[in-house]
Amino acid sequence: MDVSTAVAMRRSIRCFKDAPVDLDILRDVLDKARAAPSGGNVQPWHATVLHGDRLARLVEEMGAALMAGPGHEVPEYRIYPDDLSEPYRGRRARNGEAMYAALGITREDKAGRMRQLARNFGFFGAPVGLFVHMPRLMGPPQWADLGIWLQTVMLLLVEAGLGSCPQEAWSAYPVTVKRVAEIPDDHLLFCGLAIGVPDPEAAFNHFPNDRAALEEMVHFRD
Ligand SMILES: Cc1cc2nc3c(=O)[nH]c(=O)nc-3n(C[C@H](O)[C@H](O)[C@H](O)COP(=O)(O)O)c2cc1C
Repeated sequence: MDVSTAVAMRRSIRCFKDAPVDLDILRDVLDKARAAPSGGNVQPWHATVLHGDRLARLVEEMGAALMAGPGHEVPEYRIYPDDLSEPYRGRRARNGEAMYAALGITREDKAGRMRQLARNFGFFGAPVGLFVHMPRLMGPPQWADLGIWLQTVMLLLVEAGLGSCPQEAWSAYPVTVKRVAEIPDDHLLFCGLAIGVPDPEAAFNHFPNDRAALEEMVHFRD
């Protein structure tokens, strides 16, 4: 598989087959991803992989955390700016609409939307969940390094026949995640990554999510 194919094929997978992930393959992917670049070669990324009993325990404990309600834990960071302006606001809204439409959940069905949101905290049923974290002292350049590493991992997973979904949603529950996953308290929890074998039949893995035109974001000057 060439890079262009992997980039084109990767998309967020939120429905997985009932099939295990070979941890040796995952280890190989994570080993290869060490080659990702970072400013000063600092390599700020850390990953904690949960599977089996530990993953089941997290999902169970998340049930209690969700019942306690939002705001019970202090989120690691604000996911979007409060005043997200156009065109970003519209892009975000269209993504949400397309996602719920693929699931047959209407705008009025608030309970359906909440249930779907809650699926984040079961890693969408994936057999493996990975958390991305780094020492809290890191700044914006190192956040970018995390993103570069994450995309490297996601593309290598595609090459390995696996699917993934990055999940900022987990950043709202750092206390539960860090306790169960044994992530140091002085680390910032960036996101989760659901990993499994994609279900190619699921409409939820295929809803349209077009990208903005190149001219909207790239400017050639001479
Ligand atoms: C850093 C990051 C965090 C994300 N967090 C979530 C999340 O919490 N839940 C979710 O369902 N999707 C999440 N996504 C997936 C995005 O919605 C998705 O990447 C975007 O809509 C583009 O679709 P695609 O990944 O299928 O190409 C996240 C993506 C990124 C890169």
